Amino acid sequence: MVTVAIVGATGAVGAELLSVLEKRNFPVDRLVPLASARSEGTTVTFRGQPVTVRALSAEAFAGVDVAFFSAGAGRSREFAAIAQAAGAFVVDNSSAFRMDDNVPLVVPEVNPEALHPASGKPTLVANPNCVAAILTVALAPIERLSPIRRLVVSTYQSASGAGARAMEDLQVQTRDFLEGRPVIPRVLKHPFAFNLFSHDSAMEANGYNGEENKVVNELRKILGRPDLAVSVTSVRVPVLRAHSASVNVELAEPISVEAVRAALSAAAGVRVVDDPEKNHYPMPVEASGADDVLVGRIRRDPSHPNALNLFISGDQLLKGAALNAVQIAEALLANC
Ligand SMILES: NC(=O)c1ccc[n+]([C@@H]2O[C@H](COP(=O)([O-])OP(=O)(O)OC[C@H]3O[C@@H](n4cnc5c(N)ncnc54)[C@H](OP(=O)(O)O)[C@@H]3O)[C@@H](O)[C@H]2O)c1
Repeated sequence: MVTVAIVGATGAVGAELLSVLEKRNFPVDRLVPLASARSEGTTVTFRGQPVTVRALSAEAFAGVDVAFFSAGAGRSREFAAIAQAAGAFVVDNSSAFRMDDNVPLVVPEVNPEALHPASGKPTLVANPNCVAAILTVALAPIERLSPIRRLVVSTYQSASGAGARAMEDLQVQTRDFLEGRPVIPRVLKHPFAFNLFSHDSAMEANGYNGEENKVVNELRKILGRPDLAVSVTSVRVPVLRAHSASVNVELAEPISVEAVRAALSAAAGVRVVDDPEKNHYPMPVEASGADDVLVGRIRRDPSHPNALNLFISGDQLLKGAALNAVQIAEALLANC
C-alpha cells in the first residue's frame, strides 16, 4: 500500500506529476493532493476520479510513503523534514536543497549512482533546475566520449517554466496584442507576447541572474565536474511550453560529428532530430509532451578544432520536473 502526497498539486508541475504517475502506472494506492489554503476543497483528477485537495499542513504527511514537493523553496524548507520524519521519501522540485552536499541531485540517465551514497539510502533527493536537467541528458553521452572543457549556453525559456499563471498571462497578452488592446504584464515584469527578455530571476552579485547561476552550479554537481567552465545566458521567449538551448561544447580532443550523433542516438532519454535537408531540428512544439530531450544541429564549430554546436529542446515540465521526479521515486522504491 503506497500513499503518495503531491505538495503543489494544483500547479503546472503538480498537474504533470499527476499525469506522469498515471501514465507510468506508479503504484499509488492513496493520493494526497496538497496546495495552499486557497485551493482547499477543490479537486484534481487522478485515474479519472476527482480527489479533494487539502491545505498543506504537518498532519497531512501521516502515513505518506512518497512526497513530491512542488510548491516553491519556502514550503520545501518548512515541510520536507516533517515529511521525512513521518517516514516519507521526499523528491523535491524546488531549489531549496539542490546544492546541499548531503542531498543527491539526480538525473537518472546521468548520475543514478548518486541515489546510492556511502551514507545509506537517501530519504530526500533534489530534482534539478529544468534547464540543468535537460542539458545534462544531452551532454552526458558527449562527456563520455571526451571530457567537456567548456560550455557556452544560451537558453530560450518558455512561459511554463514560470508556472501556470505565466502560461495564462502569455495567452492573455497575445490575445490583447492581436485585438489591439494594451498589453499589460501581470505575472512577469515585461511584455511577453511578441517579445523576449532576460530571465526574470533576480540579478546576483556576479552580474548573472539566479537562473544562470543555478544552471552553472547544478551542471557541475550532476556531471560530477566541479571545475567545469560554463557560461550561461538565460532568456525568456514567448513559447508556452518546453525550453530550448543553443550550446557550444569544447571537448578535450577533437571528436567527429558522426561519433557524437551515434552516442546521442544510443543514449537513454535523447531523440536526435537533425535533418538539414528538411531544415528539421529540435523545436519546442515537438518537444512539448515528449519524454525525450530533442537534440540536433550537431555541427563542428569552425572557430575551434575541439568544439561542436548543438541545439536542444526539452519539455521542462516533464524531463525538467515531473518525469524526472517520478523516475527518481521509481528508483527509490525499487531499492526498498
Ligand atoms: N515550472 C517548471 O518548469 C518547473 C521546473 C522545475 C521545478 N519547478 C519548481 O516547482 C515548483 C512549482 O512550480 P510550478 O511551475 O508548478 O508553479 P505554479 O504553477 O505557480 O504552482 C505552484 C503550486 O504551489 C502551491 N502553493 C503556492 N503557495 C503555497 C503555500 N503557501 N502552501 C501550499 N502550497 C502552495 C500552489 O497552490 P495554489 O494553487 O493553491 O496556489 C500550486 O499548487 C517551484 O518550486 C518551481 O521552482 C518548476
